[in-house]
Amino acid sequence: MSSELRVEHLRKVFSVGNPPVEKAAIDTVSFTVAAGEIVVLLGPSGCGKTTTLRCVAGLEHPTSGRIVIGGTAYTDPAAGVLVPPRSRNLGMVFQSYAVWPHMTVRQNVAYPLRARKTPRAEQARAVQEALDLVELAAYADRPVTQLSGGQMQRVALARAMVYHPQILLLDEPLSNLDAQLRLRLRDDLRRIIKRAGLTALYVTHDQTEAVVLGDRIGVMRDGKLLQLDTPREIYNRPADLFVAGFTGATNVIDGSVRGSRDGFAVIEARSGEILLARHGSGLHDGAAAKVALRPDNIAFEPATPGPNRFTARVASQHYQGTQTVYELDVLGTTLEAMEVGSAARWEVGAQVTIGLPPELCWSYGG
Ligand SMILES: Nc1ncnc2c1ncn2[C@@H]1O[C@H](COP(=O)(O)OP(=O)(O)OP(=O)(O)O)[C@@H](O)[C@H]1O
Ligand SMILES: [Mg+2]
Repeated sequence: MSSELRVEHLRKVFSVGNPPVEKAAIDTVSFTVAAGEIVVLLGPSGCGKTTTLRCVAGLEHPTSGRIVIGGTAYTDPAAGVLVPPRSRNLGMVFQSYAVWPHMTVRQNVAYPLRARKTPRAEQARAVQEALDLVELAAYADRPVTQLSGGQMQRVALARAMVYHPQILLLDEPLSNLDAQLRLRLRDDLRRIIKRAGLTALYVTHDQTEAVVLGDRIGVMRDGKLLQLDTPREIYNRPADLFVAGFTGATNVIDGSVRGSRDGFAVIEARSGEILLARHGSGLHDGAAAKVALRPDNIAFEPATPGPNRFTARVASQHYQGTQTVYELDVLGTTLEAMEVGSAARWEVGAQVTIGLPPELCWSYGG
């Protein structure tokens, strides 16, 4: 049944190039996925997500560190422990559908049970349960090649869950699907995994997928795990400038630290104006700072008075039907701001008062 997964001080070094240079694909990563929890590893291409997943699966041998599943060490190179993938009770779903083309849906889903020599009656029951879960019972006797991409991926999911693995590993399972199908299956996936009560480690570079699917999100960069938190924490309390930017807080205001006020850092922007921001990491009085802010958290013409009110000039307007994106010249820089609704209220050149809620501005050293 589903188990806790512990990844401890995991490090994987590859030798690349000629002459060979050692490069850490995973650089001392530690985290725990509780039994029944979904953790999503999120990060840009090449940050080490797949390598981490492959180490958990036993497909990749880490340089050092431990993989502990349900209290048992499956990978521990220092102790000479490396349980092969087939002896780990894990389910895996990858980007490519990886279904057996010459088999029906039912035969595909039954395959892992046949390989495990599960008794026939038990096989039939477990296959039916898995097909019901992914809502493919009506397709059970169809050749798998007659299914859509989304249905094939649901077959792959049913096949990975049918033997109740201790951990389910998913590597960008939606990235081969068209946009609409991806949205639908994204919502289905969480429901299916939760209903089956599985512990899941899910890898993606898509922030919205991470937010919808994950109980917690781990943001990775260059082989390091920068922050592991609930989606709300990641979006509202990013640990550093990279996490802020990668999750959409793309506005950065340069300034310098001028002490504290009311529990906020006081930042002097390049324009000489003062703004209040939350204390992030690496701030030093008098030193340079960067303030990160989401475009959707900038308020236009705020009705109630408060700190962080500035006069901005509209530099550009991009009408998108259900929202309008503006570039605003303010605080010695250009900020992107978003107004939801089908009316665009300001034209290029207009002066507008904006409010930057201090609790949603995050300041970092540098
Ligand atoms: N077999 C290998 N030999 C050498 N380098 C490798 C090998 N596998 C992965 N790497 C390197 O390790 C780093 C992490 O790769 P990984 O596949 O884990 O990234 P990823 O986060 O899954 O990226 P993507 O989003 O593109 O799938 C990359 O720099 C990659 O080039
Ligand atoms: Mg990958």
